[in-house]
Amino acid sequence: MITYDFTGRHAVVTGAGGGMGEAIARSLLEAGAAVTAIDLKPQPESLARHEGRLTYYTGDLADPAFISDTITRAGEAHGGIDYLANVAGVLWFGRDRSVLEMDMAVWDQVFAINLTAPALTARAAVPFMRKTGRGGAMVHFSTIQWYRGDPNPQDAYQASKAGLCALSKSLAMQLAAEGIRSNAICPGMTVTPLQARWDNDETLAAVAAYAPLGRIGTPQDMANAALFLLSDAAGYITGTELPVDGGLLMRM
Ligand SMILES: NC(=O)c1ccc[n+]([C@@H]2O[C@H](COP(=O)([O-])OP(=O)(O)OC[C@H]3O[C@@H](n4cnc5c(N)ncnc54)[C@H](O)[C@@H]3O)[C@@H](O)[C@H]2O)c1
Repeated sequence: MITYDFTGRHAVVTGAGGGMGEAIARSLLEAGAAVTAIDLKPQPESLARHEGRLTYYTGDLADPAFISDTITRAGEAHGGIDYLANVAGVLWFGRDRSVLEMDMAVWDQVFAINLTAPALTARAAVPFMRKTGRGGAMVHFSTIQWYRGDPNPQDAYQASKAGLCALSKSLAMQLAAEGIRSNAICPGMTVTPLQARWDNDETLAAVAAYAPLGRIGTPQDMANAALFLLSDAAGYITGTELPVDGGLLMRM
């Protein structure tokens, strides 16, 4: 078991009311960090025992003013920000389709949440990373889906997540000289509320069998990768994408 020590550090985690974000926020809290968590959904029960180091904001990341106000408050309260985990995202089955036919209002909403919001959280957090004088690190949650074409297209999801990898790389280049790192995680199939469609044992077994490692990913698998990329153990890693997918990309 690898343990990290984030004592005295402050992390901002979006999507902390969902599967992966909750696991990342909880893992950072267990490793000693102070965490500012953000989600549309209310605070998960599992975070309650760390309330001394947790500040939980409920609000809409599609609202630029909410992002700016929340991150400024968080940065000022803690005297800086060390880490940013952009985990919030949406995949709207049924409504997110081929760009040749889908409602472009849906496209705009998906981009606002999956790409503009991470851009704005980074924009708000970087001045507070500079303030600490010890650099910083970001992880942005994309998907392995962006590497391929899809016979059942979800074009807004795919394009916004590709954009997020590009944004991560650009931020990495811009901020490297200041010791601020930026990397993307590309999850494979992971059991979370986002994948509520896998609602029976037969489907879950079929999904598991499709991954070369023979199981579905867990939120903790993603948290393990995120904590590594945020930690000093990844101090020489920036501007890259890490697939965390049980080997699925080999098959795509
Ligand atoms: N689960 C998978 O199989 C999978 C695969 C690849 C990538 N991902 C990506 O991983 C990330 C985490 O996904 P997850 O599986 O934990 O999903 P999830 O649905 O459990 O969590 C996402 C969270 O984002 C929050 N959110 C969405 N829109 C928001 C908004 N406008 N304002 C504030 N919060 C908002 C939701 O409330 C939710 O709690 C997402 O970016 C997703 O696209 C997931």
